[in-house]
Amino acid sequence: MFRGRRELLGLFSIDERSFGDIGDIGPEAIEEIEKAAMEDSEEAIDHGILVANLALRLAQELKFDEDFCKRVAEAGIVHDIGKLQISNFLYGRKEGVLRIEEIKYVRRHPTLGYEYLSEKNIGDEDFRDMILHHHENFDGSGYPDNIKGDLIPIGSRILRICDVYAALVSERPYRAAFDKENAMELMIDEVKNFDMNYFLAFMRVVHGDGIKDIDDYIKRCNSKVHVKSKRR
Ligand SMILES: [Fe+2]
Repeated sequence: MFRGRRELLGLFSIDERSFGDIGDIGPEAIEEIEKAAMEDSEEAIDHGILVANLALRLAQELKFDEDFCKRVAEAGIVHDIGKLQISNFLYGRKEGVLRIEEIKYVRRHPTLGYEYLSEKNIGDEDFRDMILHHHENFDGSGYPDNIKGDLIPIGSRILRICDVYAALVSERPYRAAFDKENAMELMIDEVKNFDMNYFLAFMRVVHGDGIKDIDDYIKRCNSKVHVKSKRR
């Protein structure tokens, strides 16, 4: 388990060249992420890093400029930062499904994240908006604002796809990970949630040659969860 900035940054080496300097997120966010690591939220950090790297690839595939690609990746790292405030509730949870009132609470995390980043003056309004809307669905059935289509910030549409994929292919203490093919099939069933053009680009990313380092990262993360559950 990594416990400090060096170790945290070290994990970015899975795509250091295209990722570049992540200093722009701001030291407060790094500190917050480190704190979360200390609190055994390793799963949350691994998830953030996975979403960040998938988002970077998808933004690049969609031919956005380098600056924007990097910003979406940075948003990927901190997209669930609102969960830190409810971390014991969420990440400390090892089994079972969420009850209705818990789901309601969980649904506040994009807003909590947005408020936290605003309070700490991290990122600009566009950056924070990506995080605020990362659970909006393309058909308007998402949250917190039920906005749909092009009204959803581009970065949020990218994060939405990468977030769902990252969750599906990740081992959880309460369920096994889906393999790439099954994860994509499940996402096709729910394609109304995604920007179709972005989803098609994501399919190219996931089945492309450049995905191997991310696949390896997923395997590494999953083997840690496996070890944990075996120990219990
Ligand atoms: Fe989220």
